[in-house]
Amino acid sequence: MTDSSTSEPEMSAAARPRKKLFIKTYGCQMNVYDSDRMRDVLTPLGYEPADRPDDADLVILNTCHIREKAAEKVYSELGRLKPMKEEKAAAGSSMTVAVAGCVAQAEGAEIQRRAPVVDLVVGPQTYHKLPELIASVHRGRGEGLDTEFEVEDKFDALAIPDRQIEGYSAFVTVQEGCDKFCTFCVVPYTRGAEWSRPVDQIVAEVRALAAKGIREVTLLGQNVNAYHGAAPGGREAEGSWGLGQLVRHLALIGGIERIRFTTSHPRDMDDDLIAAFADEPKLMPYFHLPVQSGSDRILRAMNRKHSAAEYLDVIARMREARPDIAISGDMIVGFPGETEADFEATMDLVRQVDYAACFSFKYSRRPGTPAASLGGQVDEAVASQRLLQLQALLNEQQEAFNRSTIGRTLPVLFERKGRRDGQIGGRSPYLQAVHCDGPAELIGQIVEVEIVAASRNALAGRLSGGKRSAA
Ligand code: 5AD
Ligand code: SF4
Repeated sequence: MTDSSTSEPEMSAAARPRKKLFIKTYGCQMNVYDSDRMRDVLTPLGYEPADRPDDADLVILNTCHIREKAAEKVYSELGRLKPMKEEKAAAGSSMTVAVAGCVAQAEGAEIQRRAPVVDLVVGPQTYHKLPELIASVHRGRGEGLDTEFEVEDKFDALAIPDRQIEGYSAFVTVQEGCDKFCTFCVVPYTRGAEWSRPVDQIVAEVRALAAKGIREVTLLGQNVNAYHGAAPGGREAEGSWGLGQLVRHLALIGGIERIRFTTSHPRDMDDDLIAAFADEPKLMPYFHLPVQSGSDRILRAMNRKHSAAEYLDVIARMREARPDIAISGDMIVGFPGETEADFEATMDLVRQVDYAACFSFKYSRRPGTPAASLGGQVDEAVASQRLLQLQALLNEQQEAFNRSTIGRTLPVLFERKGRRDGQIGGRSPYLQAVHCDGPAELIGQIVEVEIVAASRNALAGRLSGGKRSAA
């Protein structure tokens, strides 16, 4: 293996030996964003993308710890990497295996004990140190462990204006971490305390994205609507900005046509942000607001800090501000102590909200979280039955929502060629996948499409002639 030491500044990127990088991403959109940033910091060291792990010199698993299944997948993948690494070693080359993300943060050195194939464990806040850490692995020194929280460092070093761009829609992390401590959730432990990036840094990143042809940005944060970033430079007197202010400001950047944000908490939904849905047309009328349960008893045990009625009130205010808004959510069934009546309350709330889309999960017991030691853990078969029942209702709602758009003309951001020749695909304002016949030149543009058919997962449309905005 060639040493990728950072101590050779005179060597240009072009002159560096070519190496192959394979990153496998698990979990949420923030991990997708982080994987892109890891690619960005490694590109100047000569790393190019590999299509398969067995072709790679460096394999990074960017992991998710949110539910047990997600965490276990990492160990299965490490099992598959072991023979590949051995084969490479036998052939005289080598493979470096790194585990990044929330499993790395939560389990640290334990990973290397359980899977010695791992050379390096790196937590979400220290990706900017990857070049240095990899170099130290290659030199066979250092512990190769770095999972401390150093949030500011991470963003200073990773806000690279010339990041690699593909497509027309991009994620931008604006906030990280969570102080809510829902009793089932590992996020406050894996992503640390709630923290917001300064407005200036976000604006610089979004401007750079717009210059590369990005038309849509999705602002990411585990508690994105708690955003409170430092006001732009020179205006310190203004203190910090909320998400509504940030959205309106980003909407002024030329080329940016669509703004979305995820994930929000009902407690942090302020009037200014709700008003932004009414008065900022670039803010898309699609809103993801998890509730987790419809039972106040369970919401209390979850430490959600809101009741079912308070959640429904936020939804009502959103619908008043933006009547065509589509709502999505997250639900958990089988939380400890959940009775049939609690579950019925969840079904009731779902009927009242009428979701356009909703993720639903069986409660997964996460060691170290308060709910893990609660009594009344729900029988697996009961939880599975409830999940099936809930998902049947949610699927019905999703299909009904999609069907309700038949006959409407919606602006679609075309992003790719369709599966069939002559077909193109994109997204409606409500995040629905839309396919229609059309020329590839429309990719990257927002075009009016008449919706002619709908299924649970996609819409079919017909170009209706009016192009809304040029590339
Ligand atoms: N078990 C099941 N689902 C969970 N989620 C978070 N933690 C757990 C858990 N322990 C779900 C919540 C959250 C989404 C990202 O994942 O619904 O909103
Ligand atoms: Fe987890 Fe609750 Fe924070 Fe969401 S709000 S990340 S569910 S602790």
